[in-house]
Amino acid sequence: MVLPVVHVTQKLTSQYFANGVRKVVIKEVKLYLSKVLVTGWSGYLGWPTTIRLLKLGHEVMGIDNNLRENLVSMSSSESATPIDDEKTRKKFANKLGKFEYRRVEMTNYYDLHQTIESFEPDYIIHLAAQPSAPYSMINNFSAYSVTQENNNRSTINLLWIMKGMKKKPVLIFASTMGVYGQPEYSIPFDGMMANNGKLEYPIPYMAGSFYHISKTVDEQNIIFATKQWGLKSVIFRQGVVFGLWTNDTELMESMTRFDFDTYFGTALNRFVAQAVIGQKMTLYGKGKQTRGFVTLEHCIQDLVSIIDRNNMQNLNPNQPEEGKPMIRNSVTDCFGLDKLVEAVMKVIPEAEFTHIENPRKEKEENDLVMEESPRPLDLQKEISYLYSALVPFREKIRKYYR
Ligand SMILES: NC(=O)c1ccc[n+]([C@@H]2O[C@H](COP(=O)([O-])OP(=O)(O)OC[C@H]3O[C@@H](n4cnc5c(N)ncnc54)[C@H](O)[C@@H]3O)[C@@H](O)[C@H]2O)c1
Repeated sequence: MVLPVVHVTQKLTSQYFANGVRKVVIKEVKLYLSKVLVTGWSGYLGWPTTIRLLKLGHEVMGIDNNLRENLVSMSSSESATPIDDEKTRKKFANKLGKFEYRRVEMTNYYDLHQTIESFEPDYIIHLAAQPSAPYSMINNFSAYSVTQENNNRSTINLLWIMKGMKKKPVLIFASTMGVYGQPEYSIPFDGMMANNGKLEYPIPYMAGSFYHISKTVDEQNIIFATKQWGLKSVIFRQGVVFGLWTNDTELMESMTRFDFDTYFGTALNRFVAQAVIGQKMTLYGKGKQTRGFVTLEHCIQDLVSIIDRNNMQNLNPNQPEEGKPMIRNSVTDCFGLDKLVEAVMKVIPEAEFTHIENPRKEKEENDLVMEESPRPLDLQKEISYLYSALVPFREKIRKYYR
């Protein structure tokens, strides 16, 4: 049996008696299952992940450099949802568990090294990246300096820091199903043996943007370093994440960011935001491209399931072994974009759509087949939840589209 990783902190107080005898009293004892470093904690996925981890009893350190916030405001937009500042979020998080954050620029090796060494995480959930494909396609600066250099340097810094650590953490790397492109084969559950087992990994990757290429390079660096140095890593390939709801009602008190602009608004999120203000939903090309989608709740569940309490009983099948990179998909179901637009119109009958030229060179129509079965999803219910969550922020969304 493998014992759980448990960290204990104690708060002690002293009482002195008249005769000078000192009595030490234990005021509070806390057990933390694991210490988790969340990179990119203040982003769309980072904040809900932090909340879930704290509620499960893990200790969390979040790092971020505010890149997302800056890029969105440089694109003349802002999150539709109000975002608490770091201090307010910290206060909120500390009601749920032990949480600390630092402003760290991950491309700065020394700052990152110092932070990781002082925290000694058991797990690193690496979400920090420039995550927008359209943003990476604006010009040479957005493609390289802001996307590839930022993403690749951050990840390679992490790998070298992990190599030098005595107690090596498990790396969970947020990748994307976009690395599959529009494959002719069905995507296997563990992402490993495509083409009836003829390929060890479903490569060559078929990335469709400079952003997606940054993820394929990160993946290859992780796979190489894991094998070379005996690290433990999980490559977590997510579909397009949508929605604002998770099972943690706390997230409605301190909301995560929600972007809807051309660069940072992902497909279904952007459609619903457009419908909320009566703007036509913009469908690229014929809209027959199929992509994997995952609800915010499923994505968080999948991420934390790699760490969750099951590992106390050694029941967690998601635990990677040294030197053996593990690949996991995170997807609720696959949809053609036109099907999403139809679903929005069922919920919001006055919603309309228009076709615009597809900025990506890709097949106009494709099927995407996953070997794992889709998870139960009431798409219309999800859309109407999202719609009602966004209605109070209508004016902010309208301002951007004006
Ligand atoms: N949201 C999706 O639909 C989706 C789908 C597939 C994969 N992903 C991946 O999941 C991860 C999280 O996505 P998200 O939607 O939450 O993005 P996000 O932009 O909201 O979060 C990423 C966070 O990382 C921070 N960051 C970026 N570069 C940094 C650096 N050099 N140092 C420190 N912090 C830095 C940003 O400020 C941001 O807060 C990303 O890696 C993304 O590529 C997201």
